[in-house]
Formats: sequence, structure tokens, C-alpha cells
Amino acid sequence: MRLLLTGTSGWLGRFLAPRLRAGGHMVIGLDVAPGAETRIIGSVADRAVVERAFAEHAVEAVIHAGALHKPDIVRYPTQAFIDVNVTGTLNLLRAAAEAGHDRFVFTSTTSVMITDAIRAETGDAAAWLDESTGPLAPRNIYGVTKLAAEGLCRIYARDHGLACIVLRTARFFPEEDDTVRDLTGENMKANEFLNRRLTVEDAAEAHVMALGRAPAIGSGTYVISAPTPFSPSDARALRADAAAVVARYFPDAPELYTARGWRLPARIGRVYDGRLAERDLGFRARTDFACVLEAMRSGAPLPFAHDPSYGSAPWPSDRAIKTR
Ligand SMILES: NC(=O)c1ccc[n+]([C@@H]2O[C@H](COP(=O)([O-])OP(=O)(O)OC[C@H]3O[C@@H](n4cnc5c(N)ncnc54)[C@H](O)[C@@H]3O)[C@@H](O)[C@H]2O)c1
Repeated sequence: MRLLLTGTSGWLGRFLAPRLRAGGHMVIGLDVAPGAETRIIGSVADRAVVERAFAEHAVEAVIHAGALHKPDIVRYPTQAFIDVNVTGTLNLLRAAAEAGHDRFVFTSTTSVMITDAIRAETGDAAAWLDESTGPLAPRNIYGVTKLAAEGLCRIYARDHGLACIVLRTARFFPEEDDTVRDLTGENMKANEFLNRRLTVEDAAEAHVMALGRAPAIGSGTYVISAPTPFSPSDARALRADAAAVVARYFPDAPELYTARGWRLPARIGRVYDGRLAERDLGFRARTDFACVLEAMRSGAPLPFAHDPSYGSAPWPSDRAIKTR
């Protein structure tokens, strides 16, 4: 298919574009910043840019991964999030519906499920988060605008028959977490494969699966994360002493961690459950916590990217976006 892929200069886009091409698709990359995979430099918030992209490239389907995301909160005003994440998604949905497309894939985020209370991890059990989680009350403008965009996908599926798959994707960024500082970056990422992370390659694969299954599904929202080894019956123990639970599932984990000077998580306050995506999309992340331990055991490189220096591509139009 001739695919319009937004966000091609970003972290996910640079993995997803070649993966789609390998699957036989023609990829037309659109991003506000330049990049090796980006053919059209422009903003999704600009309706004329989107309409021109459709007219000039005979687009047959859209994967909308471009966005302002969490690290951008400190860099851009609230209005920019509305423009890019909400209006930008609307522009793409409208163009796709008018062109009579039969599928649309939207990259959302597990952040839409994270309330202040879940973030504070004050409960006496880990929150078990899947597609039935609600009511949703995201705690920042990133989550709020992603949730609004999800809503737009839902009504375009209902009112225009445009099959829309929303992927509530867990974290796959390579940089350091901007809030947690007491663990090394690699230690923290390794821990997150237990409950809230996947590799960027797996995130890309989920989009490929969603694109293929969308027409048959019609409309669906899926949590995308590496399979957790835990079950809901572990929720209390994870909150009280997560390291002991991990040791129960993986008896050599404490020793492997100690050898690296790493720490297992003391407490886990949330678990993302991606089983629905496995059932409906046929997507199961290849890299999970067991793969991380296997690499530690064998001395192989860790099976995930870690790059403290990574930052989103600089925007040539930074000032224009800030003042819009
Ligand atoms: N990185 C993560 O851990 C993570 C987790 C969950 C969801 N997501 C979502 O995955 C998607 C990709 O994230 P990423 O990590 O590759 O981020 P990224 O910042 O590396 O890439 C996002 C890209 O979108 C582009 N973009 C921003 N505004 C745009 C606009 N107005 N028009 C066109 N392009 C625009 C940026 O220039 C950038 O290249 C985003 O939708 C993000 O919300 C990311």
C-alpha cells in the first residue's frame, strides 16, 4: 500500500518506515523536522499540508505516529499540544475518510490510563491496566490530547466507517527517564520490561500487525507492551515486595542483578496487560524480561536500546509552533 507515515524523523518512525518497506509497502514520510525517512516536511496541524500530501502521493492508508509527547511538555505550550495532537489527528482522519480509506492506525500511549493516583502509586496493590481501565483521567496535556485524539478515531470509525486501530503503546524511548534518578538507565529499562516497556522494534511490529488487521476489526484500542510475567493475583505482593515476586518467577534474577550492581524493583505500582492485542492483532512482543535475563546470563548485549543523549529531532519551525 501507499502509506502516509507521520513522525518519520522520530525514534519510532526511523524503525517503522524500513519495517513497512520490507513488508512491501511504499512509505511516504511526513514530519515537521527533517530526517532520512521523511519525504514531506510539514506539520500535521496544517490542513493544507495534509491535503497536499494526499493529493500528490495517492495515499492509501495512514499510520499516525507523529506527535508532541511527554518530553515536549517542558518545551511547548498547551496550545501546541492541541494543534499537533488533536487538530493534526483530525486533519488526517478527515482526509482519510474523504479519500475512502479502509484503515487508519494511531499511535497512542499508556499515559492516557495514568491518573494522579496511579502515578503516585499509593494503593496497596499494583494497578492492573488494560483496555477496560477507566474512568480515564490523564494527568497532563500529553495524555489529555492523546485521549482526545483516540476519541476522534472512535467517532470516525463509527460515523465514517474508517477502521481505526488505536495502539496504547508503553514506553520504548531510549533516553533516560526524566523523573527517576536513583537507578542507572539500563537497570531501570531492564526492570520496566517486567511491567511497562517494550523495544522500539516490537512497537514498530505492533503497527504492522494493526495495519493488516484493521479492516477486519473495524475499531479497536489495544495496550501494547512486552508480555508481563505477572498475573493479577500478584498485584498485592508486587506493591509490597516486587523483588521477592520477581525472584519467585526468575530464581537467578537476584544473582544476575547483583553481579552487575543492579537493583530489582522494590515495589511495582502498575502492570500493563497486552493480552488483547495478542488475541486480536496477533501481536506479541518478542523481547520480554526473560530475554533481558538471558542476555545477562550469556553476556550478550542487552536486547534494548539505551541512549541517554537521544532527543527528538530539532524542529526547524520551533518558533512558529510556539507562537501559533
Ligand atoms: N517514546 C515512547 O516511549 C512512547 C511511548 C508511548 C507512545 N509514544 C508515541 O509514539 C509516537 C512516536 O514517538 P517517538 O518516541 O518516536 O517520539 P519522537 O519525538 O522521537 O518522534 C515524534 C516525531 O513526531 C514529529 N512531529 C512532532 N510534531 C509534528 C507535527 N506537527 N507534524 C508532523 N510531525 C510532527 C517530531 O518531529 C518527531 O520526529 C508518538 O505518537 C508518541 O506519543 C511514544
